[in-house]
Amino acid sequence: MRISLSQAITLLREGEVISVPTETVYGLAACLDKACSIDQIFELKQRPRINPLITHLADSEDIKSYVKELPPQFEALAEAFWPGPLTLILPVGDAVPTVVRAGLPTAAFRVPSLSLTRELIRKTGPLVMPSANLSGRPSATRAEHVEEDFGIDFPVLDGGACKRGVESTILIYKDGEWGIVRLGALSAEQLQSVLGYAPLFLKREEGEAPVSPGQLFRHYAPRARLLFSREPSSSYILGFRERSYPPGNRVIVLGALSSPEEVAENLYQALRQLDLEKAEEAWVDMDFPREGLWLTIAERLIRAGEK
Ligand code: TXA
Ligand code: MG
Repeated sequence: MRISLSQAITLLREGEVISVPTETVYGLAACLDKACSIDQIFELKQRPRINPLITHLADSEDIKSYVKELPPQFEALAEAFWPGPLTLILPVGDAVPTVVRAGLPTAAFRVPSLSLTRELIRKTGPLVMPSANLSGRPSATRAEHVEEDFGIDFPVLDGGACKRGVESTILIYKDGEWGIVRLGALSAEQLQSVLGYAPLFLKREEGEAPVSPGQLFRHYAPRARLLFSREPSSSYILGFRERSYPPGNRVIVLGALSSPEEVAENLYQALRQLDLEKAEEAWVDMDFPREGLWLTIAERLIRAGEK
């Protein structure tokens, strides 16, 4: 059910969970001060309680109400990338409810850039929002994707198709440096231009505790099996506009090789299209560069193929 901005404000203040667009993906939103609604987010998404949520603020300055000591270069990062697709994990006290941070001494914050979202947050106060998909499924980048996962009656503030199309990049300050916990819409190269060094991707090492609980779970997966090596039996292909593929296959175009931004924008739509067409498997053309936003695209596709 599509709702207006004023309905969204009312529902959130009444303690309902609704879906809210951002420039990255749609979120499943509840007010930070409504414990019952936050609880409902975990129920609705079937999300493990040990996986914490991001708090979304309307303005960068609002961070001061939650975090007393900001890590080095916080100001430079916020100045360069907020509002925008950057999430920062910061040390907090009890200002952020335990349920939101899954008991951790840190919490994740971001200032989204979509003006509709910021207008909403100015009226409701901070919103906690995970991506608006059932746990494990591809994220939602259009209002209809939210309806696929939560039903046609679920309230959605329709902001159109999300321009970035992949989630925010998440950074943590650890051992004297910022590191990447989740690749996302901002590339390591963009972050380097502000930090002065390339932040490392702090992947989960075999047998070690994850830097972020999100690294433990299956993500972004369609029902179809994704194949990364050529298999003649796969009739579905996720590919690029400039390339030609063997005839007789159904090619779902991710976008142009000349535009990783376009590919990111279409990524979850393409994965969801496989399910709408009841595809059992699809071959993914992984022959693209491994730099900038392409690294995020490669990581999402590989994780979407994990069973
Ligand atoms: O673009 C985005 O970030 C979207 C939109 C809606 O803002 N949100 C999003 O939320 O992707 P979600 O819940 O799907 O992913 C948040 C990730 C999870 O992997 C979670 O484990 C991690 O952030 N996270 C949250 N708080 C954390 C913390 N205190 N320490 C480490 N990881 C944290
Ligand atoms: Mg998610």
